[in-house]
Amino acid sequence: MSATAHVQIALDAPGAVVPARLFGTFVEHMGRCVYEGIYEPGHPTADAAGFRDDVRALVRELGATVVRYPGGNFVSGYAWEDGVGPQGDRPVRLDAAWHSTETNQVGLHEFARWAESVDLEIMEAVNLGTRGPAEAAQLLEYANHPGGTALSDRRAANGRTEPFGIRLWCLGNEMDGPWQIGHKTADEYGRIAAETARLMRFYDPSVELVAAGSSNREIPIFGAWERTVLAHTADLVDHISIHAYYEELDGDTASFLASAVHLDGYIADVAAIIDDVRAERGITREIGISVDEWNVWNQTRWNTQDKDAVFAGDWPIAPRLIEDEYTVTDAVVVGSLLISLIRNSARVSMANLAQLVNVIAPIRCEPGGAAWRQTTFFPFRDAARHARGRVLPLDVAAPTTETARFGPVSDLDAVATVGDDGEVTVLLAHRGLDAALEVQLPLPGFEVREATVLAAPADGDRRAVNTAGAEHVAPRPLEVRPTASDALEVTLPPVSWAVIRLAPASPTTTTTTD
Ligand code: AHR
Repeated sequence: MSATAHVQIALDAPGAVVPARLFGTFVEHMGRCVYEGIYEPGHPTADAAGFRDDVRALVRELGATVVRYPGGNFVSGYAWEDGVGPQGDRPVRLDAAWHSTETNQVGLHEFARWAESVDLEIMEAVNLGTRGPAEAAQLLEYANHPGGTALSDRRAANGRTEPFGIRLWCLGNEMDGPWQIGHKTADEYGRIAAETARLMRFYDPSVELVAAGSSNREIPIFGAWERTVLAHTADLVDHISIHAYYEELDGDTASFLASAVHLDGYIADVAAIIDDVRAERGITREIGISVDEWNVWNQTRWNTQDKDAVFAGDWPIAPRLIEDEYTVTDAVVVGSLLISLIRNSARVSMANLAQLVNVIAPIRCEPGGAAWRQTTFFPFRDAARHARGRVLPLDVAAPTTETARFGPVSDLDAVATVGDDGEVTVLLAHRGLDAALEVQLPLPGFEVREATVLAAPADGDRRAVNTAGAEHVAPRPLEVRPTASDALEVTLPPVSWAVIRLAPASPTTTTTTD
């Protein structure tokens, strides 16, 4: 049995431009993201600097645009100076955020060289947990000042004459959370963020600054936190962050599949607060929403089982932390969260899939062994490649499913974009659990360039995962049929994610004879 849905796309209506930075990612000194992730000297594919080429190839294929670094919770106890200078002289430290040992073999120079090699713009986070404005400004001077000062000359002596030219800076991380090193009240954080922003702008007015918003929408201080922080910083920052992680709770798959409803609401709430504060204070500066950590993450398992063991144990180097294995269902949720981010392009200025390798990541790898794509790799890769240009307004008419968290939710989520070359990309998430969905798109004058669908493998197991050497879950070709009413029609299996790329049909050539 299958039901039918209709997607009506307004091809000529105005829409926001999809920010390139919407397809950002995140590398934290946590678990095996850096060490045994992107960096593993001795691996057969490692380059002279110790970075794995097989992982690098997957990072390039993923096509992210921005990378947030070096944390996360890690940054709130980090001294950036520990990570510069000769590697042999760098201190080994305890990392209280993740109860690990940090060798500091990767720091700003190594990371920046790697990021340049994979075309990622760095979004550098400063420590506002145990440190403050002075250390943040010193890092900025070290990284970006051309030369002739103690800090910039130290950078040159450490092998980098040209400035790193880092434009994008996060003012701390999740300072609202009691788990954060140096956790603060909204007023305390707002003050230190404002002082730091002011000082950083004295040194370099061109920096773009991100204030730390809420760690999640359910934290009791959500809303009040944003209002207070923006009261201190609205005339000084360019973005305020949202962090959003989703998981399947108590076997409630329907609500999990509808996670984008939550993200849409979260973005709308923060956008309304930004508008209020700007209006109240007469602020003309635009403030975007930086969804700088988002993903599917089984946080319940981490909080109730894994965390206590990690924090009670030794202080290992690069332990296996939150290496979630992603299913088909998870990939469809990631795909629908991407749809939400793209749909909200008018307000979301950037977003970072957390994280990049091994730690709740689209890419996994083993020491000395293989690297592979998790199921969630594919929706991110395909959206980053093709969902560019302008967002096209659309209407979806589809069956609904009753969910415990969000009430009735449309089985079909969709977004469409049009590029400068006229190519239209339609992303579809079929959230229905039981039946296939026939989707009709009236798009006369377009021909199909490519259509793929990610769904359960032939055995129908939506819990299927990819493992080393066995990427069973990957997009496969999707048949697109013309209908009698000049529409295009596809059949989406239950719990699936699809990409349809369309180009304006070439004008028919007519031959005339004398
Ligand atoms: O991404 C993992 C962790 O999640 C980050 O360190 C922290 O900012 C968030 O709570």
